[in-house]
Amino acid sequence: MSQHATNAARGSANAIKVVLGPPTKMSVPLLDLKAQYAAIKDEVWLAVRQVLESQRCIGGPKVAELEEQVAAVSDCKFALGVSSGTDALLNCLMTLDIGPGDEVITTPFTFFATAGSIVRVGAGPVFVDIDPKTYNIDPALIAEAITEKTKAIMPVHLFGQMADMDPIMEVAQRYGLAVIEDAAQSITGTYKGKKAGSIGTAGCFSFFPSKNLGGAGDAGCIVTNDEQLYNRMKVMRNHGASPKYYHKFVGGNFRLDAIQAAILLVKLPYLDSWCEARRQTASYYDEKFKNTVVQTPFINPDCVSVYNQYVVRVPAGRRPPQGVLRTADNRDELAAYLKEKGVGCGIYYPLPMHLQECFEYLGYKAGDLPESERAAKEVLAIPVYPELTDQMKDYVVDTVTAFWCGDDS
Ligand SMILES: Cc1ncc(COP(=O)(O)O)c(C=O)c1O
Repeated sequence: MSQHATNAARGSANAIKVVLGPPTKMSVPLLDLKAQYAAIKDEVWLAVRQVLESQRCIGGPKVAELEEQVAAVSDCKFALGVSSGTDALLNCLMTLDIGPGDEVITTPFTFFATAGSIVRVGAGPVFVDIDPKTYNIDPALIAEAITEKTKAIMPVHLFGQMADMDPIMEVAQRYGLAVIEDAAQSITGTYKGKKAGSIGTAGCFSFFPSKNLGGAGDAGCIVTNDEQLYNRMKVMRNHGASPKYYHKFVGGNFRLDAIQAAILLVKLPYLDSWCEARRQTASYYDEKFKNTVVQTPFINPDCVSVYNQYVVRVPAGRRPPQGVLRTADNRDELAAYLKEKGVGCGIYYPLPMHLQECFEYLGYKAGDLPESERAAKEVLAIPVYPELTDQMKDYVVDTVTAFWCGDDS
């Protein structure tokens, strides 16, 4: 709690009254990709020019080099560059022959692509509730969701923190299921020292611009240690053609553009330092929010998070500490307050997958997966991107803290 809040909360007769006033208004967006671009602009331009001059615009040496480097940073034998994180998931499911009549177990608390890709191959998503501390799928609930139709488990490593993979792999092995890691938000994150994407049958990354490693458009990658699977995924990436114009099966156009690969190759050497900067900001926030009503992210001691998002929780219905002026007690009011004060924030995700209109036919109803539903009402992501200055971080801290202190005159 800030000094001001502490004094306000004490409110004793002999306390020295310190009036700090509200922090001077500044603008701190949730993410500032222009700041990253400004730091590496010359390198990016050079890389793009090289591709344009080579006119190898799809696949080619830049894609091969990126695949080699992504495999290396993920401790995997193989990597396959693809057109997006969504297409990475889709390619994996198609290559594993998952389709109509099959079920895939996953989390409802994720970005739509996870469940959407399962439905797009004709399979049924089976949603299992989350661990309320990490927001990742609760492994203890997976076994009871398994049926004769279950073909795979698709855990998501949300916000940069890997799911609890040991019990997930144990249950998968027990029932002979594939595990597709949706690692879209967590490249280079670890679980017991193992890299995201390296534990399951395959792992999928997104290089959407807002990811820790983001392209200048859509791009993605699949990693695996299974050579046969890799070879089949490679054919799947190009309409199932092998050789060209001879189609073994029906695949898709999941190819990666060389310009994206070239830009990602420029950024990859910075990834560790960017993730470290995110972690440092996270521990700064953790410390500053320790005694406030804002719950800071819980990181499993087995994990190193890459904090694609720093997500606080505002438990609904909890009152601010005694003595503070504000009575607002929920996430939506905090979000509105932050926006009004110039601090960007975002809700990931406001409606769990099992309650989405397009999945009504699955028959889920409100209350079925209570932890996911509660999280959807209470979470709020605040700025954690690497280029935040100390002044910006302080402003975020002061503004969040001021919300409960009435410092908004
Ligand atoms: C958890 C998760 N899965 C899948 C995706 C899909 O990735 P893309 O946007 O690159 O298709 C995303 C990206 O937002 C994601 O966050």
